[in-house]
Amino acid sequence: MVAPPTHRRAALITGASSGIGKALAHHFAQDGYQLVLAARGVAKMQALADELQKRYKVSVTVIGADLETNDGAAQLHADIKARGIVLSALVNNAGYGAFGEFKDASLTTGLAMMQLNMNTVVVLTKLFMPDLLATRGKILNLASTAAFQPGPYMAVYYATKSFVLSFSEAMASELEDTGVTVTALCPGPTASGFQNKADLGNSALVKGKKLPSSEEVAALGYRAMQRGQRVYIPGLVNWVMAQSMRLTPRNLATKVVKILTRPVA
Ligand SMILES: NC(=O)c1ccc[n+]([C@@H]2O[C@H](COP(=O)([O-])OP(=O)(O)OC[C@H]3O[C@@H](n4cnc5c(N)ncnc54)[C@H](OP(=O)(O)O)[C@@H]3O)[C@@H](O)[C@H]2O)c1
Repeated sequence: MVAPPTHRRAALITGASSGIGKALAHHFAQDGYQLVLAARGVAKMQALADELQKRYKVSVTVIGADLETNDGAAQLHADIKARGIVLSALVNNAGYGAFGEFKDASLTTGLAMMQLNMNTVVVLTKLFMPDLLATRGKILNLASTAAFQPGPYMAVYYATKSFVLSFSEAMASELEDTGVTVTALCPGPTASGFQNKADLGNSALVKGKKLPSSEEVAALGYRAMQRGQRVYIPGLVNWVMAQSMRLTPRNLATKVVKILTRPVA
């Protein structure tokens, strides 16, 4: 099947109210995609929608969605279908982490994070698969450099991102003859709302470090998605770290992350 003309392509971006998702929205709009923005922060997304509509003359739909609830993803799918929108691109970007030892962490937060970072990705991928097959569309999943090894002090978050990477690569393989591409974007620490939300201020991972901007990461990720690249790790240091982790004994890799992520005064 031939891909729909540019003016009829539509993309859903979850977590478009800030950070990498918001920055990605600019690239899709610039390319002429009709956009659906979904997150809880409706006012922020509406401001972004106004800017995108004005600047790029594209149609933008804002949907308030809490995607860490059991039926949040299915409800979002139903809302989009009720509007008669057919997706050519699905960006599973909404996600968060939490810094701290698992023994002290909130179980409720951990389970909600798993729902958002993993279950929502699976549900949206499944429910929008007919759209994506029909349009020979693109899937962009936000994994992380956290996906390549275990992460002491952010144990649940690292495990969720390993899931996203594994799921994305398997999907890319299954879909390789369909025209649908799947890209796992694996950034290292990036300046966004993530650090505050994860309470990462006292982690050696970010304290005193200059992080790349969400805009830089989004630009590279968008390009990788357009190329249909299966796994993309922005930044040479991140790439080298991720590759070396593949060859390092798991115990040692875990120790390295523990040192890099440790709480500092
Ligand atoms: N920043 C980093 O260092 C980094 C590194 C690697 C990977 N990543 C990944 O990149 C993705 C984007 O994060 P970011 O860095 O851009 O962080 P961010 O600025 O905090 O953005 C996170 C987005 O997720 C949305 N979100 C959070 N909880 C949600 C919920 N329950 N329902 C719907 N949407 C929800 C937020 O919107 P609302 O709060 O308005 O709902 C926000 O739009 C995440 O998957 C993250 O794991 C980030």
